[in-house]
Amino acid sequence: MPLLIQEVPVINAPIELLLLADPSEDKIRSYLSGSKCFAASIGAVEVGACVVQQRGTDTYELMSIAVHPAHQKCGYGTALLKWVIEFYRSCGARQLEVGTGTFGYQLAFYQRQGFRVTSIDRNFFVKNYPEPIFEDGIQLFDMLRLTLRYSDTTA
Ligand SMILES: CC(C)(COP(=O)(O)OP(=O)(O)OC[C@H]1O[C@@H](n2cnc3c(N)ncnc32)[C@H](O)[C@@H]1OP(=O)(O)O)[C@@H](O)C(=O)NCCC(=O)NCCS
Repeated sequence: MPLLIQEVPVINAPIELLLLADPSEDKIRSYLSGSKCFAASIGAVEVGACVVQQRGTDTYELMSIAVHPAHQKCGYGTALLKWVIEFYRSCGARQLEVGTGTFGYQLAFYQRQGFRVTSIDRNFFVKNYPEPIFEDGIQLFDMLRLTLRYSDTTA
């Protein structure tokens, strides 16, 4: 069955999927209102989701993207990210931003689509989450901010 990607009302955002990308349900709920949510499904199964918030007249931030663990490494995350990039290109966006940890496969996941590192937010994960966050046994301290400038890429 083909992968179907579409915008869904934020009230129907799959929180359990979004928790894979952000361990704080409070934070997810706080940025959901005022954002758009996109879901990727195969038949009746929702396999992935992505939340994007407008930051300025032509700047958007990808707040969260996640694929269900049973469906990871099948290309769905890349398909969803590419779809969202093209959605905002067609809306006239100038740039799409994302914040992520300073290590791990997620960095390559974004950079493959043209995102470039633009700044570092030191101690972001310590200052913004009550509990330490670990990935691959390494504590996350700093957040890298990556930006995709549409003028640098072609559709
Ligand atoms: C990031 C994520 C959305 C990617 O979705 P996906 O469907 O697995 O991505 P793809 O299948 O398109 O794979 C993209 C690349 O990431 C790699 N990858 C995906 N999951 C991985 C994992 N758990 N460990 C190592 N590499 C992984 C894939 O192998 C692939 O690289 P390759 O082309 O060199 O093989 C998904 O792994 C996820 O939900 N992760 C947990 C939440 C998260 O970290 N979100 C991002 C927050 S910044």
